[in-house]
Amino acid sequence: MRSLFFSLPPPFLLLVLLVLLSPWPVWAQAPATTFPSGPRGDPDCPEACACVPGGQANCSALALAAVPAGLSRRVSALLLDHNCLSALPPGAFVGAGALLRLDLRENGLRSVHMRAFWGLGALQYLDLSANQLEVLAPGTFAPLRALRTLSLAGNRLARLEPAALSALPLLRALNLQDNALTALTPGLLAGLPALDSLRLRGNPWACSCALRPLCTWLRRHPPPAAEAETLLCTSPRRLRLSPLTAFSDAAFSHCAKPLAPRDLAVIYVLGPASFLASLAACLALGSVITACRARSRRRTAARRPPRRPPDPDPDLEGSASPADPASPAAAAAQA
Ligand SMILES: *[C@@H]1O[C@H](CO)[C@@H](O)[C@H](O)[C@H]1NC(C)=O
Repeated sequence: MRSLFFSLPPPFLLLVLLVLLSPWPVWAQAPATTFPSGPRGDPDCPEACACVPGGQANCSALALAAVPAGLSRRVSALLLDHNCLSALPPGAFVGAGALLRLDLRENGLRSVHMRAFWGLGALQYLDLSANQLEVLAPGTFAPLRALRTLSLAGNRLARLEPAALSALPLLRALNLQDNALTALTPGLLAGLPALDSLRLRGNPWACSCALRPLCTWLRRHPPPAAEAETLLCTSPRRLRLSPLTAFSDAAFSHCAKPLAPRDLAVIYVLGPASFLASLAACLALGSVITACRARSRRRTAARRPPRRPPDPDPDLEGSASPADPASPAAAAAQA
């Protein structure tokens, strides 16, 4: 270093000295203007990402195959969009407990472990759009009690179980557009009391009884006209292209009413109880029959004379055939 410094031509050396000794903090400002991020090696910034003082860690489009290490509670927004995270392992974001915003768009995500979002109790905004998710395990979003906005748009979801979303008491906006959903499972919307924006277009809705809860919800929360026009049945054929918002409650009058919780409780109690009762009855009946049989066997055994040993006995008929020339009976007949 020193030899390089001294081998520089004198005019250049002079320039370097001038800059170094200048009263304006040229060096101090230069990195701040060319890199708005915190310096590399900042303990609060995951390596490879660019961080800004507000707590945003920008790790967009870095071809990352895993969530970067070094997440801290100082990070409030984590941008991981346009990377190559094909799976999220359990506890993928532990350490980032103060995270409010998480962007995972366009990662080719195929699986999210049911405990991937553990520790993100403050998260308000989660974007999982434009991935390749086909199913979501039960409880995946359960830790996200503060979630307000969730996007699952542009995936391959054909079913969305209520248990996957769990109860998200503060969720206001849910985007499900451009998936493979044919219906929303009953109970899904019931767990989302604060929901007021639901994006649904681009799904092959099957207009059957299973669509009733969704149609009921849509009547109570009418979507903007532009969105409503795009919500169309794709099956059955006679309802093809009928708008979902056109079905009144009367359209579902032929459908069986869903069971009330009390009926369900009765079924759940009666089912196992009757099973146990019949099991007990079978056991009791079986043991009574066995006991009766054993008793009658004992009684007949007491009445009958004791059985003789099976020794050959000439007086006993049938013990040997008279036709048998070697038998004592045949010998007696001959004599
Ligand atoms: C994050 O970084 C990328 C690339 O460095 C940039 O294009 C993008 O605008 C940044 N995003 C934000 C929200 O600052």
